[in-house]
Amino acid sequence: MFLILAGAFAASAALAQSVQKFPFSKTPAGEAVDLYKIKNAAGAELDVITYGAIITRLTAPDSKGNYADVVLGFNDIEGYIKGGAYFGAAVGRYGNRIGGAKFALNGKEYSLYKNDGENTLHGGKAGFDKKIWTARPIKGQGWTGVELSLTSGDGDEGYPGKLKLKLTYKLNNDNELEIDYLAESDADTPYNATQHSYFNLKGEGEGDILAHKILINADFFTPVDAALIPTGEILSVKNTPFDFTEPAAIGARIEANDAQLKYGKGYDHNFVLAKPDGEFGLAARVYEPASGRIMEVWTTEPGIQFYCGNFLTGKDVGKTGKPYIHRGAIALETQHYPDSPNKPHFPSAILKAGKPYASKTVYKFKTAQ
Ligand code: GLA
Repeated sequence: MFLILAGAFAASAALAQSVQKFPFSKTPAGEAVDLYKIKNAAGAELDVITYGAIITRLTAPDSKGNYADVVLGFNDIEGYIKGGAYFGAAVGRYGNRIGGAKFALNGKEYSLYKNDGENTLHGGKAGFDKKIWTARPIKGQGWTGVELSLTSGDGDEGYPGKLKLKLTYKLNNDNELEIDYLAESDADTPYNATQHSYFNLKGEGEGDILAHKILINADFFTPVDAALIPTGEILSVKNTPFDFTEPAAIGARIEANDAQLKYGKGYDHNFVLAKPDGEFGLAARVYEPASGRIMEVWTTEPGIQFYCGNFLTGKDVGKTGKPYIHRGAIALETQHYPDSPNKPHFPSAILKAGKPYASKTVYKFKTAQ
């Protein structure tokens, strides 16, 4: 069954806004997975599947106006099911790590699934990235998109409370991808949803990202131990390879003799954004010199994980047959800080019973002149 929403707001333009629904695949358990193809009036395209609310494709223009797919991904469900790298997925309930795979809340101890050594990572064994979401097309003035809903039951992956989620991906005619999360739980629970797209602004599979220049709006970061759990310190980036307050090439200091870079095998750290938690503001700006593509990340979240694909090895082969090599992409995951449930001095990541939580992140694509 096809569903087409023609571009009411750009009917006269050659490129119209639209959302189309197609069957994508079936999971091994036989559940149907749909694909939503979203287009804007400028020429950008966004593909989303209902498995994991995964963004499988997103195109952005270079400085000559040529659109290329700038996110890593696969053509078939198998690629997503086998991969442990969370390509393009919605991640939760708790994006990033919780140390010791446990936490205490309201006087009770909770144990989680250890999928990262002694720790839990990105929601556990079957987090949001492995669920089938319910989807419907949505549109408004100047944008079209998809709304994805999910209910995570009480006790799901060891977390308390029945959690209801609405996630929307909206692509507007200015080449901005807006991601909104609305969450509500019937009991207090840790909650830290994020989006795990891997970006290469040269195009997916087009080599490494070391020449991309990045600015991160952060004067501090949260250092980690050898298992990538925050030590609890909040350290200044000054005079460290973590100072991206001025744009710098990702590769410029990545091999510096620095214990934090050794633990992360490169950058894989949470930055403390220089803006209040809850306030919408700039988190990062990435510029790729060969194509002239620029991506800005804006968010209401207090932190951002800057991960530069250090665990990619080239064994995953992507949708156009190119291997996803070591440092072949970056993820910029807007979030609360890792291990917040065990770090009372970090901004709280506890979703209170009956209190809706809204979070917004926007990836804005532009070009250098
Ligand atoms: C996050 C983590 C990384 C890694 C990836 C998935 O970005 O910070 O350490 O686990 O997810 O491969």
